[in-house]
Amino acid sequence: MTESSQKKICILAGDGIGPEVTRAAIAILESVADTAGFDLQMSHGAIGGEALDRFGVPLPDETLQMCLTSDAILLGAVGGPRWDSNPPELRPEKGLLGVRKGLGLYGNLRPVRQMPALLKCSTLKPEVVSGVDLVVVRELTGGLYFGEPRGISGARGAESGFNTMVYQRREIDRIARKAFELARIRRKRVTSVDKANVLEVSRLWRQVVSEVHRDYPDVELNHQYVDNCAMQMVLRPAQFDVILTENTFGDILSDIGGVLTGSIGTLPSASLGDGPALYEPVHGSAPDIVGKNLANPIGAIGCVAMMFEITFGRADIARLIDKAVEQVLADGYCTSDLTGSGGKPVGTTEFASRVQDYLASAVKGV
Ligand code: NAD
Ligand code: IPM
Ligand code: MN
Repeated sequence: MTESSQKKICILAGDGIGPEVTRAAIAILESVADTAGFDLQMSHGAIGGEALDRFGVPLPDETLQMCLTSDAILLGAVGGPRWDSNPPELRPEKGLLGVRKGLGLYGNLRPVRQMPALLKCSTLKPEVVSGVDLVVVRELTGGLYFGEPRGISGARGAESGFNTMVYQRREIDRIARKAFELARIRRKRVTSVDKANVLEVSRLWRQVVSEVHRDYPDVELNHQYVDNCAMQMVLRPAQFDVILTENTFGDILSDIGGVLTGSIGTLPSASLGDGPALYEPVHGSAPDIVGKNLANPIGAIGCVAMMFEITFGRADIARLIDKAVEQVLADGYCTSDLTGSGGKPVGTTEFASRVQDYLASAVKGV
């Protein structure tokens, strides 16, 4: 084996099932570290509701500093009913938005890949979801989530609530380039999703995406309105390769990915900027199943695979991890959100340890 290289990973487990799926992901990280020749240094930071309880803020400065000095960040989930009546600045979700903004993570890749063992899990017909392999490229630091002005104003009984969906040319340009670059190493098709029939911000979006496309003539570009795209994703999802869209539309459309794979618990994501990347499952803190060892760890484990592929340039390790997950599913094991597969439901920890067993035997075969 080559000399081991130090990698600093910052773990932000967060709330609800966040710590449960993160534990599973860490087990997988540790399983492949030797094979990769990595000496892992893990640090743990507080975020979300946990940080509010301990420090009174959803994103302590120390956590942000820890992220900035890491090679990669792994996040579980934030939020929960306990903090739902907090004022806007003191909501757990502000911690996640703060870390995305603070690290300049403008590009969020959300792959949706139908796994053959889960063909019967979707509420959609097997022939509709079979072969689905798409990536939602979601803009992550602009749009309605961050636009100003925002607020609630006016006298009680006559209030107005308002947010601003705003994009600058440069924000659209850079995310469009990410989508075209990604399409180049995939099936070379980008669908840009907007609401240009109604919104000015979308008209600028469409114009800039079309202009950037001139630099990528080898990639096919088409445009869809977001309402039609939502329908197309459940009607004929296999048509999509790369879906490029703004922050709010991307949030909404990417949850449909959970219907295509059989569960939102299977979906990983990578949030990218110019510094360290953050890997976060698409799902939330799932308050309805917290503490029961029921959480599906596949999304979180997929985050580890994405980290190896994108941050560490080790697609070989990423494929080992993906394959180990698929083998456990093919053996007939799943978590309780995936029982439609006909598999035997096991807990979060058992599922992860079965993935570890496959990784261990794959390593022996190397
Ligand atoms: P959710 O994704 O937490 O849950 C939606 C449904 O999916 C629930 O029935 C849940 O049990 C199920 N589910 C989610 N993840 C699962 C998993 N890994 N395994 C099995 N089942 C899973 O969405 P929600 O209920 O709308 O939100 C709950 C909280 O999470 C809110 O506070 C919300 O703001 C927060 N949230 C956080 C993130 C994040 O941290 N990235 C993402 C989405 C929502
Ligand atoms: C997601 C989540 C977050 C978002 C929330 C928790 C802020 O829904 O990552 O999809 O809306 O971006
Ligand atoms: Mn979401």
